[in-house]
Amino acid sequence: MRFKNRVAVITGVASGIGRETAIAFAHKGAHVAISDIDREGLDETARLLEGTGVTVLPVVTDVSSSKEVQKLISSVMEKFGRLDFACNNAGIGGASATTAEYSEEEWDKVININLRGQWLCMKYQIPAMLEKSGGSIVNVASILGTVGFASAPAYVAAKHGLVGLSKTAALEYSAQGIRVNALAPGFIETPMLDKAGITTDPDVKKMITDRHPIGRLGTSREVADAIVWLSSDEASFITGHTLLVDGGYTAW
Ligand code: NAI
Repeated sequence: MRFKNRVAVITGVASGIGRETAIAFAHKGAHVAISDIDREGLDETARLLEGTGVTVLPVVTDVSSSKEVQKLISSVMEKFGRLDFACNNAGIGGASATTAEYSEEEWDKVININLRGQWLCMKYQIPAMLEKSGGSIVNVASILGTVGFASAPAYVAAKHGLVGLSKTAALEYSAQGIRVNALAPGFIETPMLDKAGITTDPDVKKMITDRHPIGRLGTSREVADAIVWLSSDEASFITGHTLLVDGGYTAW
């Protein structure tokens, strides 16, 4: 119960990494504000958290909407009066097409959710954290925030942008008690990879798996455990860092 009486907000909790992260924070004793654009998946996650003994505040939120993000953070402050941890995780894969073939509409959508959305979350979380003694923010980026990937230009650009944004916020707020880090998972078995056709096609799955020296894809639990550790006081001297949780993908 390391996080007893502390409060975490997690975005994108309707499935995958976000759901597992909400569960991990709750198991450490934190009260959790959980949010997603998908009401049904959000409700299911709230059900999974029943019996953990912590208070759960589900708020339907589109992270690309300033109004909705503002409402999420003000609901957290109204309910709990504090914000200690934020895990900005909501994101989409976007269409698969080369840089010249990519549509403007899809580009805007991916950047709006994966980069602008993460910035909006921090924009409202930081003042809330400063009301008390600070906090810790973990932005879920990707290995594709550190290396390129053909046919994912908007996703790669958004995730590289998020890594730079996290470093910048760390420079600005670490002295005031807010640590800001990015976390960069390798390929993790979640619905996102099903939607991208990676886990549904055995040949593609093998090709992607072979890029991970560890010989398999990651699990949401492995990413959630790293997020919780990076948020905790055990990581108290770590800020402005990008933590790779990638089975060695970027070690080649
Ligand atoms: P997922 O598809 O299972 O979960 C993403 C969640 O974000 C969903 O619940 C979805 O409803 C929500 N979401 C989408 N748009 C939203 C919006 N506008 N507002 C609020 N919520 C929204 O995918 P997964 O894999 O759990 O992804 C979580 C994060 O991890 C994403 O940022 C993704 O880019 C990142 N990531 C995933 C990797 C993977 O291989 N699965 C690898 C590296 C990073």
